[in-house]
Amino acid sequence: MSTVQKIPVLFLGATGYLGGSVLSRLLAHPSAKSLEITALVRSEEKAKKLEAFGLKTAIGTIQDLELLETLASQAHIVFSIINADDDPHMQAILRGLKKRHATGDVPILIHTSGTGVFVSHANGMYATEEVYDDNKPEQFEALPHEALHRSVDELVIAADKEGYAKTYIILPSTIYGIPSTPLTRAGIQHAHSIQIPFVTKASIGRGQGGKVGKGASRWNHISNDDTAELFTVVYEAVTKPGNTVPHGREGLFIGENGTYAWGEVSDEIAKVLFEKGVGKSPEATTFTSDELVQYFGSEFVGNLLAGSNCVGVANRSRALGWKPKHTKADLLASIKAEVEAALKQ
Ligand SMILES: NC(=O)c1ccc[n+]([C@@H]2O[C@H](COP(=O)([O-])OP(=O)(O)OC[C@H]3O[C@@H](n4cnc5c(N)ncnc54)[C@H](OP(=O)(O)O)[C@@H]3O)[C@@H](O)[C@H]2O)c1
Repeated sequence: MSTVQKIPVLFLGATGYLGGSVLSRLLAHPSAKSLEITALVRSEEKAKKLEAFGLKTAIGTIQDLELLETLASQAHIVFSIINADDDPHMQAILRGLKKRHATGDVPILIHTSGTGVFVSHANGMYATEEVYDDNKPEQFEALPHEALHRSVDELVIAADKEGYAKTYIILPSTIYGIPSTPLTRAGIQHAHSIQIPFVTKASIGRGQGGKVGKGASRWNHISNDDTAELFTVVYEAVTKPGNTVPHGREGLFIGENGTYAWGEVSDEIAKVLFEKGVGKSPEATTFTSDELVQYFGSEFVGNLLAGSNCVGVANRSRALGWKPKHTKADLLASIKAEVEAALKQ
């Protein structure tokens, strides 16, 4: 009897809000039986739960650089959905992939960055005219090295240029929604995103829906489910025999399905809080400087998270066949559950 060799996959971020949704889809994918997935996890308890889903696990953090290098050197495909800003861990992954290449493989790296790479500050006062297109790598190359996420993206792209790995970078925008996956039900996956839960908690803290400045700045939105679907579409395309998907500097895939003004999200939070008797009025009022410091850690972070502009268009992602389903109406409708969950906490 012959044993068929499985494709080794390293999965980083298995317990995360986004990673858990991507992994859930991968486990349900027709190719799942041909994969041997290893997840790096910090919690022994979650590792055990993941093993029940058929995964191998390694206990460690992304600060364990030797472990990361070794794990990457054993993988044909790496999903990195864990940290978009930490150079040393990405350097360790890439050292591992270089070793893997020396064995005659061309490994695949699917890395998660974010549209935050082209964020511009507006303190909530105006909307942007500038639109970044994932079909225009030159727009990204013009970004400063210091831009959010950019230094890690540069490392990833340089690896592809050197030729020892094929790299694909996914750039989600504001991801929203509370995922319901086998991994959330098993208590493995985080259930909440970053930006909207932050503004929600700040609004609850001050007893009134809050906005940054006039709430005029704009971001793209994308549901958790549509984002996980984008990873699936990219995974399928890049693992197809004869794959011709653009990679490296061109392998950029934005996740967006339209834009919203931060004031719209803030007003929705205010409306739900008012209905629940927690907010003073159904319209958001402007966070004071002190409140930005109190609830976001600093004025800078508050302005960045909920008062900046960040608009892109996912032309390359859509050209690959990705069809996001959820719209701005779904984004606004998702806020009630987010507020309810935050109130319970
Ligand atoms: N959510 C968004 O709106 C959004 C948008 C664009 C880009 N992104 C990017 O997508 C990536 C994932 O975001 P997310 O929203 O899914 O965040 P998340 O829920 O916090 O997930 C982060 C994952 O990384 C793991 N992790 C964090 N630090 C670690 C460490 N030192 N060692 C080992 N594992 C570690 C967490 O494990 P534990 O379970 O142990 O904490 C978890 O699995 C991030 O790079 C983020 O910047 C997110």
